[in-house]
Amino acid sequence: MKIAIENLNENELKPIYSDASQLGFGRIFTDRMFTMRYNTTGWADAKIEKYKNFSFDPSACVFHYSQEIFEGMKAYASEDGRILLFRPEQNVRRMNRSADRLVMPPIPEEDMLQAIEELVVAEKRWIPKAPGTSIYIRPTMVATEPFLGVHPSSEYLFFIILSPVGAYYKGGFQPIKLYVEDTFVRAAVGGVGDIKTGGNYAASLMAGYEAQRKGFSQVLWLDARERKYVEEVGAMNMFFVFGDKIVTPPLTGSILPGITRASVLELANHLGLKTEERAITIEEVIDGISSGDITEAFGSGTAAVISPVGSLYFKEKDYSLNNVQVGEVTQRLYDTLVNIQYGKAEDPFGWVK
Ligand code: COI
Repeated sequence: MKIAIENLNENELKPIYSDASQLGFGRIFTDRMFTMRYNTTGWADAKIEKYKNFSFDPSACVFHYSQEIFEGMKAYASEDGRILLFRPEQNVRRMNRSADRLVMPPIPEEDMLQAIEELVVAEKRWIPKAPGTSIYIRPTMVATEPFLGVHPSSEYLFFIILSPVGAYYKGGFQPIKLYVEDTFVRAAVGGVGDIKTGGNYAASLMAGYEAQRKGFSQVLWLDARERKYVEEVGAMNMFFVFGDKIVTPPLTGSILPGITRASVLELANHLGLKTEERAITIEEVIDGISSGDITEAFGSGTAAVISPVGSLYFKEKDYSLNNVQVGEVTQRLYDTLVNIQYGKAEDPFGWVK
């Protein structure tokens, strides 16, 4: 694919963040973005251009019926000056699975990868180097046809923006307090909970907002049918540690197939831990925490990588894990994964590109 690259004048460049160690998540964007348009003749007009506002017809499908998908991934600066991507081919594949589910056009995998790589290289001055920082990559596709009928759009915009980021949570790598949500649900089997579309996140806002008002960081989602099985945590996958075994709910259609989730499972196996993907009820979780069988719990996602869980609030009672300290298994998985991502540890899986 030929990508046209716009060169910016010195006076068009934004001032870079002054203190990389103070970067939060997703508020600062680089000078340029990647864009490409689709119409009935296919994808065309691939370019890296100045980061600026888009102009869309107010009737564009995306504004009305949420035909939108996205991805989230990161590039890391290694100590020896390389730029590392973590399993980018997995994001590209998932983006096309999401596209398929929402009747959107696929993008050739090699083209999407090329766009990501060329943009990251073009914007490399923005990749932060402080510990725990990276550049977050957000590929997005929106339906742009100006038409109010409920049907798949005939026109799309695909774009990629970049954001230098630090810790996803303000507190950094600290145990979070969860509220077990037994009223609202995130997704149902047969719906779109297993793809990355904005509507899933919109649907989660009310529960997250209420939980935060009550002093919790995130909600623990239960299944839509029975409010019995644990599904996800906030926008992350959920893991429980039973001594030397880690357990996560299976991908049965309402859970996002996280790339960090898959990596944690493979890594845990490699480190000699046992892993299990199986349905786990909230009762089993409560009993397991109370009896001490569950020793730790954590969430996994691209943004936070691994987020230790300190406590869980369910039916008016608080259950704390590992004295609200980061557990040994959680810490080990986090350290190993992050060291692979930054090119500091051996990568036996060939994940880093
Ligand atoms: C992630 O953990 O990467 C997520 O999915 C959160 C993102 C939507 C900010």
